[in-house]
Amino acid sequence: MTKAGARFPDNFIWGAATAAYQVEGAWAEDGKGESIWDRFAHTPGKIRNGDSGDAASDHYHHWQEDIALMKSIGLKSYRLSLAWSRILPNGRGKVNQAGLDFYNRLIDGLLEAGIQPMVTLFHWDLPQALQDEGGFAARSTAEAFVEYADVATRHLGDRVTRWITHNEPSVFAFVGHSFGQHAPGLKDPYTALRVAHHLLLSHGWSVPVIRANSPAAEVGIAINVNFNQPASPSTYDYHVWQYEFGMWSRWFLDPLYGRQYPPDLVAYAINNHSLPADGLDFVQAGDLQIVAAPTDFLGLNYYTRQLARDQSLPPDQNLPPTVFQAPKNDHDWQEMEDWEVYPDGLFNVLTWLNFEYQPAALYVTENGASWSDGPDETGRVKDARRINFLQRHFEAALRAIQIGVPLKGYYVWSLMDNLEWGHGFSQRFGLIWVDFITKQRILKDSALWYKGVISQNAIPEMPIDP
Ligand code: FCB
Repeated sequence: MTKAGARFPDNFIWGAATAAYQVEGAWAEDGKGESIWDRFAHTPGKIRNGDSGDAASDHYHHWQEDIALMKSIGLKSYRLSLAWSRILPNGRGKVNQAGLDFYNRLIDGLLEAGIQPMVTLFHWDLPQALQDEGGFAARSTAEAFVEYADVATRHLGDRVTRWITHNEPSVFAFVGHSFGQHAPGLKDPYTALRVAHHLLLSHGWSVPVIRANSPAAEVGIAINVNFNQPASPSTYDYHVWQYEFGMWSRWFLDPLYGRQYPPDLVAYAINNHSLPADGLDFVQAGDLQIVAAPTDFLGLNYYTRQLARDQSLPPDQNLPPTVFQAPKNDHDWQEMEDWEVYPDGLFNVLTWLNFEYQPAALYVTENGASWSDGPDETGRVKDARRINFLQRHFEAALRAIQIGVPLKGYYVWSLMDNLEWGHGFSQRFGLIWVDFITKQRILKDSALWYKGVISQNAIPEMPIDP
């Protein structure tokens, strides 16, 4: 166990993260085009309680106050995403200067406050105009992404020092195109794999463009990898684990790091008809060299542990019971259903990524927890569970650093309460409480605790008892 009080490396980058659709609001202001999330949210039944990002946390109008709050926490860096359709309302072609101006002001404001911007180009809010042409299932959308990356980095690249091409391509591909739970709401596993490939291709194509426009910047991608285990020693569970975990992680990481798409997973995908018998028919000659463009860092979004269970067996073929104890304490489960608090998994995933892929550097680009604690009668938000969560995950990260993982920074998800995609406003991940009606902000206890971590560059000795 890492002792509380142990210090992080000098220059460790402490940050917090958001995404445009989740916080900005102003969905149709100043020339912004419609995105697939606008369309999805405006379709009845898609988002819980009929919520939408129309106003979200209204960061678009509160950005100065939000920067002041970041400064008061002492954040070294802020991870934001750009709304593609604010900059190119139709996805390509005509540039909307007012959209660029918003990000110019925001980035200048951050730099004045001494906060380094880390900017994600694509956090799922594809311009609807491109979806109308097939979305990322079409190769032409990957080309449009490069045009957008060029415009964005040409205008902002003199000040942004870390770029992320895509956020969680597996979630965008699978949850949006196979499960139908995210925009654009499709349910076709083959389309999801096409989308995944075009995301990776657009990443690889854009890396040299970003480097040319923003020569001093680091470039990377943010991947989601939760800690996965087979639920029992049965070979059935093992095979489900191999496929499921593989599809969410190796399917993306192997090509990014110069390997092919994993042959075992291609075979699985052909067997279960996610791919045609001739396999990866959307991959063209030379694509895999492009996808494997060297990057400066790998971003990891980590939240929970997942146990793989073969659900397909008839009930009389009982599997051995799951070998893992489900924790019983309230603070060991987030309010997101089935999201277990599992800090050791962060250590395990960081070390696995490092040994398996040897990225030049790693950042935790997202980690955080959903609990809805709100202000008490004095206006204070006592979110002790979030402090406990962060403390234990920071300790896990520090243990990974101590055995040589090149972890350079850590971005808490999220800076502020926001629209949690299909869950609407029902899930609160913020260090900052947001009243979604008045838009009032309050620093939660976790933000004040985080301030102490940042100022000491260490996990405080303070005992945490949620
Ligand atoms: C991640 C997303 C992020 C946020 C967290 C809770 O998958 O990247 O936008 O919704 O989950």
